Amino acid sequence: MKYKVKEKVDHSKDIIIPFRKSELQSEKIADFDGEFGSYQLLYSNEGSRIYLLGLGEDKHTNRLQEVFRKLVFKEKDKWKGDVQIDCSKLEDKEIMAAAIGMEMAMYKIGQQKTKKEDKIKFDFIFLAQKSTKAAVEEGKATGETINSIKALVDAPPNVKTPAYLGQWAEASANKYEYQCKLWDDKALKKDGFEAILAVGRGSQHESRLIKCSYLPKPDADIDIVLVGKGITFDTGGISIKGSTNLHYMKSDMGGAAAVLGAVELTARLGLQVNVVGLVGSAENAVDGRSYLPGDVIKSYSGKTIEIINTDAEGRLALADGLNYAAKKLKPEVLLDMATLTGSAVRTLGYSAAAMFTNSEALALRLTNIGESIYERVWRLPMYEEMEEELHSDVADVKNLSEKPVAGASIAAKFLEYFTEEHPGWVHLDIAGVAFGSNEYAKMKSASGYGVRLAVEFIKTLQS
Ligand code: BES
Ligand code: MN
Ligand code: ZN
Repeated sequence: MKYKVKEKVDHSKDIIIPFRKSELQSEKIADFDGEFGSYQLLYSNEGSRIYLLGLGEDKHTNRLQEVFRKLVFKEKDKWKGDVQIDCSKLEDKEIMAAAIGMEMAMYKIGQQKTKKEDKIKFDFIFLAQKSTKAAVEEGKATGETINSIKALVDAPPNVKTPAYLGQWAEASANKYEYQCKLWDDKALKKDGFEAILAVGRGSQHESRLIKCSYLPKPDADIDIVLVGKGITFDTGGISIKGSTNLHYMKSDMGGAAAVLGAVELTARLGLQVNVVGLVGSAENAVDGRSYLPGDVIKSYSGKTIEIINTDAEGRLALADGLNYAAKKLKPEVLLDMATLTGSAVRTLGYSAAAMFTNSEALALRLTNIGESIYERVWRLPMYEEMEEELHSDVADVKNLSEKPVAGASIAAKFLEYFTEEHPGWVHLDIAGVAFGSNEYAKMKSASGYGVRLAVEFIKTLQS
């Protein structure tokens, strides 16, 4: 399927014409008032389709992607020829958002269905100046990468093992020309990634540490390391979870997917930023070999961790990744994304990721970027006294506070312990936003959250 840019409209072909609410106040059209996300189908004299698409009010501009996605998702099965998009009222940034939404609408969730879907029979033609081509191309690439990481998150846990995530990263690195290094169980042991290994010990599948390096400025320092939680399935381990909605714990690698997608997209776009993605991946399974509550484990940092609850596993995988990044890679910014706590979901629902950082400047930057693309973050505190909840009698730190309060903040405090006081560290708890209900599937499914947020942030590091 192609995305073309043309200057001249073809009246014999279908067309989508966006309208803001304000434009329709003087000119009234029956049955259509430009309401956010609404659309009206008309037919031309030639018999082609004309879609009036409602962009809503100015405050909805950051949600343009959604509007285009919804229309394409609902109408695409009817389309047999080219579909034009009238871009005369849209800026390039908005055209890019439209293209992302349109590409996201083409996402196929039924990868495991035996009946294959029909071939796509149409191309998109953006009616705009030639100079808009770059925005359209970037939108298409962004949508494609988001779709491929959504496919990872939606994939069943028997398919997307830690080794599979490693293979995905390797294939992406080959395709888009960046480096990928994998640690298997033996290599993890050799290099001391004991916390990742502890989480994966009860699984029939080996664990992996995945390092993706896109370094277009080989002589310069690393600008940013992205660390992702890659738990391919979270049973809770010996501290086992209940079975209600347990199948959704296949999405516990949503942070890893966002990290892998962000590195891929940065490379695809050729951004002049040195980026490394690190994913600690394991399956948290129940078995005779599983790590136990009460165990004291080692970690890459050398610090010992008392396991209070094996269901607080994500922070262990992240601890090793963060410590490796802080000690060995020394980036300017250290950003992790993880479906870390139910507490973040209870606090912010499905509307925003919980953000933790000691940097006011980074907090502000990420808040603004998140708002502008509608992948929102909301800052929560990491107070000094919260760390006391993690003091262990027998080890350097314990993995869970005994009190059932401030869970997301205390998890962040745990992570902070492994960051070597990195001044540019930001933790995003994306448990509420990586996976959820939407109008594109009957059950909960991947949202693709985090790829754009990270890449738009990475753009601000270009020098
Ligand atoms: N993967 C979960 C967190 C999670 C919950 C993600 C809901 C997405 C939706 C994490 O590993 C976990 O199990 N957290 C527990 C910790 C518990 C031991 C306190 C939680 O937050 O309930
Ligand atoms: Mn867990
Ligand atoms: Zn988990």
